[in-house]
Amino acid sequence: MSDEMNDEMQLIVDGKRLDGRKFDELREVKIETGVLKRADGSCYLEMGNNKMIAAVYGPREAFPRHMQDPSRAIIRYRYSMAPFSVDERKRPGPDRRSVEISKVSREAFELVVMKELYPRSGIDIFVEVLQADAGTRAACINAASVALVDAGIAMKGIVTSVAIAKVNGEIVLDPFKEEDNYGEADMPFAFVIRDGEIKSIGLLQMDGKLSYDEIRKGLEMAKKGAMEIYRLQREAIIRKYSLEEVE
Ligand code: CDP
Repeated sequence: MSDEMNDEMQLIVDGKRLDGRKFDELREVKIETGVLKRADGSCYLEMGNNKMIAAVYGPREAFPRHMQDPSRAIIRYRYSMAPFSVDERKRPGPDRRSVEISKVSREAFELVVMKELYPRSGIDIFVEVLQADAGTRAACINAASVALVDAGIAMKGIVTSVAIAKVNGEIVLDPFKEEDNYGEADMPFAFVIRDGEIKSIGLLQMDGKLSYDEIRKGLEMAKKGAMEIYRLQREAIIRKYSLEEVE
């Protein structure tokens, strides 16, 4: 997007975003664990107008056999957008964008799944975007994390993801579609959270241009946002397994 067009697109009016949010405010996040009967683990998640379903299968014998690793599980991650999830019908099937998103998301989960506990196995993570409104890779990662826990997969931590953006010169948390499309920059993060604390970054991408200070500010905003999402992920898991009494 050229600067000229950015000037035209008013995304912040009277210090507020077009959807009424503050700069550091997340969209509403709703999470439900265990929504699919056939999957070993599943999750339905909304993040504003994003709606996605994650299904986890495994650990199960990896197939095809030649893919098996005798010392650890292999993880597969498939991000897919339903043809009806976007304004203009998306052609079904994988495209370059979904292949890239699948790869970087899988790499984030490689950091936490205890693969060595499941030799020769496959852990398949499928995420379907039912409705897209920017930040779908982040929302899918958040859903996949919950589905992995629901499947009982041993993990060293949980992955929680959120993006920041720069719109009309301001750093904002969790951009929606217009902010993502017409903003000056967009930066999704995925954090590894263990023992209730952010330990590392497992995914970091950027479109556009940000100064060092803006990146620092965005990182702090993303960390705060991720901790809020983490609490909701945890709540959604506890709700299903009714662990409140043993807390
Ligand atoms: O969704 P995310 O922000 O992770 O990825 P993106 O490539 O930055 O896409 C931003 C948004 O553009 C998506 O969430 C969709 O709302 C929209 N999009 C679309 O309308 N049609 C596509 N084929 C791809 C993306």
